[in-house]
Amino acid sequence: MQDKILEILTNADGYVSGQDISEQLGVSRQAVSKAVKALKEKGYKISSITNKGYFLVSEPNYLNEQSIKKHLITAVIGKKLVVLDTIGSTNDYLKAEGSKGCANGTVAAAREQTKGKGRLGRAWQTNKDDCIMFSFLLRPNITPQEVSCITPLAGLAVCKAIREYTGLDCKIKWPNDIIVGSKKLVGILTEMSAEFDGVEYVVTGIGINADHTSFPEEIAHKATSIFIETGLHINKNEFLACVLNQIEKDFVKNDMKLSEKALEEYTLLCATIGRNVNFTRQGQTVSGTAVGVDGQGELIVKLSDGTDCVVNSGEVIVQGIY
Ligand code: BTN
Repeated sequence: MQDKILEILTNADGYVSGQDISEQLGVSRQAVSKAVKALKEKGYKISSITNKGYFLVSEPNYLNEQSIKKHLITAVIGKKLVVLDTIGSTNDYLKAEGSKGCANGTVAAAREQTKGKGRLGRAWQTNKDDCIMFSFLLRPNITPQEVSCITPLAGLAVCKAIREYTGLDCKIKWPNDIIVGSKKLVGILTEMSAEFDGVEYVVTGIGINADHTSFPEEIAHKATSIFIETGLHINKNEFLACVLNQIEKDFVKNDMKLSEKALEEYTLLCATIGRNVNFTRQGQTVSGTAVGVDGQGELIVKLSDGTDCVVNSGEVIVQGIY
């Protein structure tokens, strides 16, 4: 019922009387007043005036389905959307939902993760409501080899959405971090369930540092947040909708592939290209200059002997960036 009251108040031009709401929902005035009280306790600012009714002044700035949906203009991504208060990991949650057959485009976001996962077996830890954490599930008609395009496409969409929404000059650190200057703002982790010739589903999880005012000493030199960079606590719901809208736009436009257009955009926004990089190959540290990204999302590195070599995963140390 709280959801329905929010919907009524959100769509209203001004005050809505308790009587109107109770008639629309077929419940008593007391039930309406109790639900409004519960919403106020959750952080919604609702003005109540005798003889006028209720007016939604502002929403709490933590993730909630109703507020995200208000700004979503997608046909697939987030049509099924759940915001969890606390969960181990949104990626793990969505993989379990994926195995039960949830719809293509399902999104799971969380205010808090207790077992958040990063790449290469690392943990992703943040305080409740500081980070915008969400995963989306796709059931693409592609081969397991083509899944390597999903992360760069997601990174590109998120980078563009952040640039548009916040004005920050953020860039992509290959393969999938988003950085401001030399500090990390966003991490992306893609996992899939596949047979050798087909993909059952792909889950891409994204963590965007939003409201952190500081970071633990060990990572303070290499992590940043939208608040630290702009001094603003952005509207997390509107912003997440903007990110999901961009993801859908880019995935549809590029037919789930790193099309020529997407590669061009990715290359322009990729901070790794043009820098010296080190990586490990067959136990040896190899150095070179990153010169581009190919259609599979692999990094092309020019070695000192003039040959090009392709790096597809693992850890690449980019000189000048954490
Ligand atoms: C990385 O940079 O190492 C990847 C971090 C990915 C973090 C996000 S937060 C939402 C989703 N759920 C997880 O457990 N991980 C991803």
